[in-house]
Amino acid sequence: MLKPRILDAINEQINAEIWSAYMYLAMSSYFADEGLNGFAHWMKIQWQEELTHGLKFFDYLLERGEQPILKPIAEVPEKWDSTLHAMEETLKHEEHVTALINNIMDIAIEEKDYATQSELQWFIDEQVEEESSVQEIIDSLKLIGDRGHGIFMLDKELKARTFVDETLED
Ligand code: FEO
Repeated sequence: MLKPRILDAINEQINAEIWSAYMYLAMSSYFADEGLNGFAHWMKIQWQEELTHGLKFFDYLLERGEQPILKPIAEVPEKWDSTLHAMEETLKHEEHVTALINNIMDIAIEEKDYATQSELQWFIDEQVEEESSVQEIIDSLKLIGDRGHGIFMLDKELKARTFVDETLED
C-alpha cells in the first residue's frame, strides 16, 4: 500500500504522461500538415514513448497493490506558430514534466517511501535525456532557420529516429 499523497501524485502523473502523448500526437499531425514528415515521425515516436511512461507508472501502482485511476485527458492545441515555436513548447512542456516528477520525489522523500524513490530515479534520468534531445533540435533550428535546405536536411535526419521501449531496459 502506498501513502495517499504518493498514490494521488502518481495517478496525476499517469494523466500527465498520457496528456503528453496526446499533445505530441497533435504535434505530429501539425508537422505532417506542414509537409515536415521527419518532424511528424519524430513526434509520433515521442507519442509512443510517453505512452510507455504512463504505463510504467500504471504498472508500478499495480505492483504496489493499488488500483490506477484514469482521469479525463484535457484538450491539446492543434496549431503552433512555426517549427521552432512547436519545439520550444515541447522543451517547456518537458521542463514542466521534470518539475512534476521532482515534486513526487520530494513527497516520496518526506514520506520515507524508498521504493517509490527508486522507481522515480528512472524518470529523473529519462527527463535529462528528453530535455537534451529537444534542446539539440532547437539549437539546430536556430542555426539553420525555419526554411530552405537546412530544414529539409534536419527533417530527413529526424525521420531516422526509431522507437525503443526504454522502460524495458534496466
Ligand atoms: Fe514522459 Fe516526456 O516525459
